[in-house]
Amino acid sequence: MKKSTEPKRYLISFDSHTTSHVFTDILIIGSGVAGLSAAIEASKHCSVLVVTKDKIDENNTVYAQGGIAVVLSENDAIAKHIKDTLDAGQGLCDTPVVKTIISEGPERVKELIEWGAVFDREDDHLVFTQEGGHHFPRIIRAKGDSTGKEIEQALIRTIKGNKNIKVFEHTFTIDIVTRDGICHGVIAWHAKKGYMVIWARRTILATGGCGQVYRETTNPDVATGDGLAMAYRAGAALQDMEFVQFHPTTLYIAGAVRFLITETVRGEGGILRNKKGERFMPWYHSQAELAPRDVVSQSILKEMQKTDHTNVYIDVRHIPKERLYARFPRIREICASFGIDIARDLIPVRPSAHYMIGGIKVDRLSRTTVGQLYACGEVACSGMHGANRLGSNSLLEGLVTGYRAGKDAGASIQKSVRKLVPYAIRESMDLSKISWLDLDDIRNSLKSLMWRDAGIERDERHLLEAGEMIEMWGSYVMDKEFSNPTGWELQNMILVSGLIVSSALKRKESRGVHHRSDYPETDNIRWKRHITVKKAKS
Ligand code: FUM
Repeated sequence: MKKSTEPKRYLISFDSHTTSHVFTDILIIGSGVAGLSAAIEASKHCSVLVVTKDKIDENNTVYAQGGIAVVLSENDAIAKHIKDTLDAGQGLCDTPVVKTIISEGPERVKELIEWGAVFDREDDHLVFTQEGGHHFPRIIRAKGDSTGKEIEQALIRTIKGNKNIKVFEHTFTIDIVTRDGICHGVIAWHAKKGYMVIWARRTILATGGCGQVYRETTNPDVATGDGLAMAYRAGAALQDMEFVQFHPTTLYIAGAVRFLITETVRGEGGILRNKKGERFMPWYHSQAELAPRDVVSQSILKEMQKTDHTNVYIDVRHIPKERLYARFPRIREICASFGIDIARDLIPVRPSAHYMIGGIKVDRLSRTTVGQLYACGEVACSGMHGANRLGSNSLLEGLVTGYRAGKDAGASIQKSVRKLVPYAIRESMDLSKISWLDLDDIRNSLKSLMWRDAGIERDERHLLEAGEMIEMWGSYVMDKEFSNPTGWELQNMILVSGLIVSSALKRKESRGVHHRSDYPETDNIRWKRHITVKKAKS
């Protein structure tokens, strides 16, 4: 974003004398796998408050179907998983981080099993599936296609009854409060309780991604990039914002939510066909349907263009019906609600935005560049995924980085003698409370623009056009003071979209999930490096 369009430091003007105050040792924003893992670990050291803008179990984790990639099979090896992850990341992974997350993964998953998460087994042995880019079946799953939900429920059961952990649901975090570059908590809002300052000795952002900035997305409504935006406004460095992963296969039926058709459907033998019924993936990659996601998404796009059709299809009709229904009960149910019997009919699919690979830059202990502020899970850019994430590596990353953030934050509090001392905050942002805006219209226009101009295939002309539109909308949305999440979310979405577009414009090459049709080659000489963005000091 240009200097002139930098956002104001806070979304609202506020005076701490007029708000209520809450105190905690560790504040965790977000309640998916990373946030709850952090909470459990941190609670061994001190008091923890988890704040989430919806219900505790409404987040991206819950919708994760395929599974969690982890080396637990006898014939697999940590080194093989590391190699697959590094190969997919195309030169931009942080190798020590990849090694740490993959090596610690088995211990964390075993702990999850002890906490009651039940993964699918046959003859008492865990069942492993393969996904694109993995050269070994190492994905474990729960209830066929409900892995995230199973993990989330096990974590929720574990925090219930933990006296050191409190949860505030339906509480929207507006901004991170900082003084001299150090985070002291947040300003938040609850529909009934109003504004509050939550003072914390350490704050951990685990707010997930920003799929909602795209018209087509697998992400739930809550994924509006709030954590990314508030960290940026607070002066944290963000990295790799151009790397947005598009999932190749989401159900495509006009009017239906873009329900994920898990990659493990292809892992179990699902075949992609174009409008003419032709199997096309072997034309594009030797691993065919199990090629890395960027290759599959781009190939699908090409086939949609070639056949002038809105979608392609997954064909699983050759898989025995009983096996299919037992393996994918949730997909069967959703498809059936639209009159599609997966054992008999082709499933219409197309790609959609799925995962933000970039995010708040963190070090190996999940610390951001702002003092006392941590980030973990999808909102963070840990260096695990590089330019392209392997399927099912993100639940693993959330589990391990959440644990590590909670552990370091907790331990650092124990070592520190610094007390939690609230201070008077008076922030006047010179914002207008008068607005004649149709927020839904701007939100929908933004999502369409991002899909069209900053989606799977990008070029300079479209990115410039997107940048101009975002700047124009920003000029009359960012100077307003809203009093509810609809406005704040839109402001966050505009900010995050601007960062995605400006980073995508800067990276003049194609690498991983970032595909520039005007720079189709990978340029290792100039671009084997990260793009970092940070708010200019105002
Ligand atoms: O296809 C899937 O089940 C998605 C997995 C993931 O994004 O990790």
